[in-house]
Amino acid sequence: MYKVLTVIGTRPEAIKLAPVILELKRRPTKFSSPVCSTGQHRLMLDQVLTEFGIVPDYDLNLMTSGQSLAQITARALEGLNRVVAQENPDVVLVQGDTTTAFCGALAAFYQQKKVGHIEAGLRTENKFSPFPEEMNRRLVCALTDYHFAPTHHARAALLSEKVPRSNIFITGNTVIDALLWVRERTQWQIPDLPEGLVEQVAHHQVILVTGHRRESFGEAFENICGAIRDIADSLPEALFIYPVHLNPNVQKPVNRILGGHARIKLIAPQPYPSFVWLMDRASIVLTDSGGVQEEAPSLGKPVLVMRTATERPEGIAAGNARLVGVTREGIAAELLHLLTHPAERTAMSSVRNPYGDGHAAERIIDVLAAHRPGAGKLKSLNSCDKWAGFERHMNDAKVA
Ligand code: UD1
Ligand code: UDP
Repeated sequence: MYKVLTVIGTRPEAIKLAPVILELKRRPTKFSSPVCSTGQHRLMLDQVLTEFGIVPDYDLNLMTSGQSLAQITARALEGLNRVVAQENPDVVLVQGDTTTAFCGALAAFYQQKKVGHIEAGLRTENKFSPFPEEMNRRLVCALTDYHFAPTHHARAALLSEKVPRSNIFITGNTVIDALLWVRERTQWQIPDLPEGLVEQVAHHQVILVTGHRRESFGEAFENICGAIRDIADSLPEALFIYPVHLNPNVQKPVNRILGGHARIKLIAPQPYPSFVWLMDRASIVLTDSGGVQEEAPSLGKPVLVMRTATERPEGIAAGNARLVGVTREGIAAELLHLLTHPAERTAMSSVRNPYGDGHAAERIIDVLAAHRPGAGKLKSLNSCDKWAGFERHMNDAKVA
């Protein structure tokens, strides 16, 4: 039996690894698939695990309020090192660029285990943006054996860093698998939202907001909130819905600047199906989140990205996303423009999702299955229908 230990810690890792964990569990004769949660997040992680029915075999339960990077890194490395030693897996799977992902890869390396990195090859080329994620993913990359690149662009970044071609697999992003799974399961059932919100959604132009990046704490966050307030004050048809991230560095400025406005609804982090429902009802998504940028094209939603650089240029190249920076005037001007130009919104909405087709997890597990001792040749993977159709899908989405 080939043992694959999957490591999760935060909300986006859980969403993006849920399809992978479920796919591993669908192949019980080939894989044993323990799951370890660091509990880097608590409520926001548990919301996702509950939704997908995943119960980790290990829960290190590490989160403390206002944790520093050094604290969570030291505790996650120590805890994960113990779990890897105890489980003795063939491969450790990590996702993305969080502290949990970095520590999972490092713990695997210390125990001389293979590492599979899902969502490999995203880069801004600025080590402080996003912070600390750009450095986390570079460090994970150095420790990785199987690089699961979501797109051609990500693969090219890995090749330019001299990652061997034969170790890179373009799979699409597993977030699309998760999104389609939730959409099919819930069939757009109306979620349990704060009283009156569903009614208000029906009668307004909804702007769905998320924002939590560390490099934006302080001035940039004040600007983001200021821009939202400016537009809410000037456009009576606009309704902002902002599920506020639980990080105290986000909670404080958001509640102070935006609290109490009749058309700015600050709500708790939403269960994944509720958030997807809100995204589907929105006219525009205003965000700094990576996962949301990737999901929006599947729902035909234009995205304004409140950052100065993105490691996801595919959405911008496809015409679905615009980078609007982090100044108050810049964000407000772009938002007002898009809200008042429906034809531009329509053009941004009719884009094929450049991040994947909903079968990324199957491909990742196909690759791992093909690398088990005694398995058939890997090159046969590329000739099967699932991979050939995908190649056409992704070729359409190349960044110039
Ligand atoms: C982390 C990741 C970031 C990812 C984001 C997704 C790192 C360094 N950062 O950032 O890459 O984009 O998650 O959301 O790995 N908190 C709660 N309850 C929760 C979750 C968070 O109270 O369920 C609060 C706690 O006070 C915690 C703080 O948020 O200390 C920060 O959490 P942390 O995981 O360190 O950083 P994020 O900003 O969430
Ligand atoms: N999301 C969610 N509930 C919310 C806000 C976001 O389920 O209230 C989902 C969203 O659909 C996306 C993911 O969380 O899949 C993004 O997570 P986050 O913004 O925390 O992290 P990032 O993607 O920026 O790393």
